[in-house]
Amino acid sequence: MQNPILTVSHITKRFTGTTALDNVSLELYPQEILAVMGENGAGKSTLMKILSGIYPYGSYDGEIKIQDTLCRFKSPAYSEAAGIAMIYQELNLELDLTVAENILLGRYPKTKMGLINWEQVYQDAGAALERLQVKIDVHAPVRSLSPSMQQLVSIARALYCNPKILILDEPTSVLTEKETETLMQILHGLQKQNIACIYISHKLDEVFKLCDRMVILRDGKWISEYSKSQGYQSTRIIEDMIGRRLDVMYPKTKKKIGEEIMRIEHFCVQHPFAYGKHIIEDVSFSVRKGEILGLAGLVGAGRSELVSAIYGLTDSIGGTLYFDGKKITHPTPERSIRMGMGFLSEDRKKNGFVWTMDIEQNMTLAILKEISQGGFINQSREDKISDEYFDRLRIKAPDKKTLITSLSGGNQQKVIIAKWLMTKLKLLILDEPTRGIDVGTKAEIYKLINDLAAQGIAVIMISSELPELIAMCDRFIVLGKGVVQAELSKKDADEVSIMRAASCT
Ligand SMILES: Nc1ncnc2c1ncn2[C@@H]1O[C@H](COP(=O)(O)OP(=O)(O)OP(=O)(O)O)[C@@H](O)[C@H]1O
Ligand SMILES: [Mg+2]
Repeated sequence: MQNPILTVSHITKRFTGTTALDNVSLELYPQEILAVMGENGAGKSTLMKILSGIYPYGSYDGEIKIQDTLCRFKSPAYSEAAGIAMIYQELNLELDLTVAENILLGRYPKTKMGLINWEQVYQDAGAALERLQVKIDVHAPVRSLSPSMQQLVSIARALYCNPKILILDEPTSVLTEKETETLMQILHGLQKQNIACIYISHKLDEVFKLCDRMVILRDGKWISEYSKSQGYQSTRIIEDMIGRRLDVMYPKTKKKIGEEIMRIEHFCVQHPFAYGKHIIEDVSFSVRKGEILGLAGLVGAGRSELVSAIYGLTDSIGGTLYFDGKKITHPTPERSIRMGMGFLSEDRKKNGFVWTMDIEQNMTLAILKEISQGGFINQSREDKISDEYFDRLRIKAPDKKTLITSLSGGNQQKVIIAKWLMTKLKLLILDEPTRGIDVGTKAEIYKLINDLAAQGIAVIMISSELPELIAMCDRFIVLGKGVVQAELSKKDADEVSIMRAASCT
């Protein structure tokens, strides 16, 4: 057997109130793609941040070795110099700089005069993107790109410094299936070029296909290890991750579908990047009480843009919205909330949280009126409801007074979901509700969504995971080229019929 390229021994990392990693050891071998798996808050990102120097030597116990050399990274620059490149779970690009500036950030080539050689910057950035087989304008500001495009830029940036070890923390959560496929090919290609990878993802089928071996963490501890050559068993792996048996993934609740609650007619929405173009041209549909309506379409079909305009986050440029029997001329988020419409946005960084608040405060933001009396918050009511959701969604934190910023990515998502689940709604719009959420909690969220529908609440759901969309929804609207390409009933909808309609063939 070869010697490992990376050895992590007995790592323990404590934060106030939490032991994020408890005596974890693992090895990474040359040319290997190793998955690190575990539920939200298991300690995966913390371990990667130690390897990438974000948590410097001295802030943890244990040892890291690259081949035989002991590593004591003082900062990310040291880790990068040792050959480790990292793609973070939360996108961390400079939004106002161009694509090229981001890819080469801090490593700009210089002219003989010592000035930045801009021509070279753009050329190198173009070459880096070409390696990923993607076409992105290197002169465009990163802010103008979709989340998936931004992710590809950060991958190009990581590869630019020719790493020996590449760490990817949930790289595909914002990618489409096709982009994910491309990324897998790229990683297999890198494997042949002698680069080893550590890969974190909550998507089991993706990990089964890609990774040679997997290590499972739970509550900061090493639990088990499986290799592809032995064959992966998903039931066993899920049980190791969540520490209990998972009965049903998609629970069914008996319900009745009632009368129409919302309808749009001839909706037209501006394209977010291409000035003067419409991403939604002419779309009409309605949703009924107790119904879960799936909005399907390829990335770029305008699903998120459409629901943002319905909620009033952005303006529509044409069309009419009816809600609860009334025509709504200028929807705004405030008005939508008042009418009983909730919206879980796909971009939680921009539209989800108040970063200075704790878990409880963030959860109860949308129900302050209901839990207040005479202008003061009724503490015992706030406690009761926030306790209930804190437990139900198994939010991993020392307590609910923990700041939202110190939660793991998936646990932050759970807090926003709780915020909307507590509200007395008539319509809930969910844009990628389970992105970055572990399997056990996914099942819990599906149950909560079904319970809401059973109470007569209408739900519009967007998800890039087709099996999830198909299992959850009663009816499907497939968008493509700015219009409705197909409307499918539950019995006619499967992956093939939806994909065929979405790709407008
Ligand atoms: N800066 C911090 N301060 C306090 N606690 C933290 C901090 N960062 C992480 N934690 C805690 O450490 C634990 C592990 O978090 P980590 O982000 O490593 O989880 P994860 O496995 O990456 O989860 P996810 O799948 O949700 O991304 C969690 O309980 C988290 O709340
Ligand atoms: Mg994480």
